[in-house]
Amino acid sequence: MDGTATLTLTPLSPHTGVEVTGLDLRRDVTEPVRAALRQAFRDHAVLVVREQALSPAEMLAAVRIFGDVFPQHNPRFALPDCPEIHYISNQDRFPDGRPYIPGEGYHTDHSNAAEPPKATVLHAVKLPDRGGDTQFVNMALAYERLDPALRDRIEGLRAVHVYQSSHSARKLMGLSETARAKVPDQVVHPIVRTHPETGRRALYINPIRIEAIEGMAEDAALALLDELLAHATRPEFEYRHRWRAGDLVMWDNRCLLHKANGDYPMDQERYLYRVMLKGGRVG
Ligand code: SIN
Repeated sequence: MDGTATLTLTPLSPHTGVEVTGLDLRRDVTEPVRAALRQAFRDHAVLVVREQALSPAEMLAAVRIFGDVFPQHNPRFALPDCPEIHYISNQDRFPDGRPYIPGEGYHTDHSNAAEPPKATVLHAVKLPDRGGDTQFVNMALAYERLDPALRDRIEGLRAVHVYQSSHSARKLMGLSETARAKVPDQVVHPIVRTHPETGRRALYINPIRIEAIEGMAEDAALALLDELLAHATRPEFEYRHRWRAGDLVMWDNRCLLHKANGDYPMDQERYLYRVMLKGGRVG
């Protein structure tokens, strides 16, 4: 038996997301299962593996099916005993005492890296009774359904990405000096990228990281980015993930934007482990 016999894959929307059941990532990962999971991730861009109960070390072993771990930029969120894993928690606060909800507002992860992470993986440890969904929008589909005149306008454009865009309404937790020194001041990526595995083209924009578009005046650049974001975040491109206990969710940063929702009672804890996987140059 190759291990795939008990695996069930169920699409979660017409374009994005697949649910995996009948799998225990701690033990059922034969080579055929690995191949099936990689293929499902390539085809659906969001992989939701239900009913897992992974320790940090087990989560690391599971995500290595898909690639190597990418070092996340802000080590203040690293788990002390397993620093390749960070946590997401609604119990953190900005230095001025305001609650910090990581991931609010559409974005793609760590696009301020020269080679941004191809994927991010979250594993639910504690969830609120309701709310706290993660929304995803499919940027390949959004690109394909862009008005052809707008598609022509953005062809060849390149954007400057920084750790924290001065135009972003969402403020990130600051980096220590040591962490800052490891992150490039700025990088430049195309606004349309080609997925290295599927060959599909996708919009690659990021409201929290893009500081400018090369060769374009600031007003025009911001207006263009707003127009692209308004188009890309239409409901027809969305898969909204409603978390269940034990979910492990992995998404493809090369063809999706995502955002967290802080729409639940803040006295209830929402705590997840987070890992990222290395990607390559954006082309
Ligand atoms: C993130 O943006 O990495 C976090 C998303 C979430 O907490 O739902």
